[in-house]
Amino acid sequence: MKRYVILISGRGSNMESLLAAALPGQCAAVISNKAEAAGLALAAAQGVATAAIDHRGFASREDFDAALAAEIERHTPDLVLLAGFMRILTDGFVRRFEGRLLNIHPSLLPLFPGVKTHAQALAAGVRLHGCTVHFVTPALDGGPIIAQAAVPVQAGDDEASLAERVLAEEHALYPRVARWFLEGRLHLAEGRAHLDGERPARGALHAPAAV
Ligand code: GRF
Repeated sequence: MKRYVILISGRGSNMESLLAAALPGQCAAVISNKAEAAGLALAAAQGVATAAIDHRGFASREDFDAALAAEIERHTPDLVLLAGFMRILTDGFVRRFEGRLLNIHPSLLPLFPGVKTHAQALAAGVRLHGCTVHFVTPALDGGPIIAQAAVPVQAGDDEASLAERVLAEEHALYPRVARWFLEGRLHLAEGRAHLDGERPARGALHAPAAV
């Protein structure tokens, strides 16, 4: 059976959606850079192994990433899923896991990389917003896009209401993509995501019915 590891920093609702999806693989561990991350307790309650590696205990990003990589490798995962993991990873770390490292980002990339994506979307006045699952490469939030889900921005939206609408789509999209990977259908090749050998990946866009 394939094995996957989930990295979190906080609440862990994406992690919960992955665990609830009964993916064709075993969640070998949930690892956080914050011991107080609520998601760690949720994972432990489900019998999943957890670990916390506090980034503040390391002199450099390289040292933290080396410790994080060592902890991940202990679980010999086929797939590593970043789910609200709020640390920038070094190029060395990313290269080590390239092709089996995925992230979910709460915007329609390449729009609004980085943080505060819902505030960025509202400030820009876009009518469509959403989330993206992508392979992680050294370019921050810039790796090959696998799948996206779009939501409308509605009159009167604030950051919280928009975040809630996007999060519901994140919870549907990420398990779907993780399943593709664990089924051996999804690959990174020549800097692109391929699903069932095709590019662009068919079925990798979820758009709202009424936009
Ligand atoms: C999600 O919106 C994720 O896309 C972003 O941070 C949030 C994490 O939420 N990077 P959770 O911890 O999965 O509940």
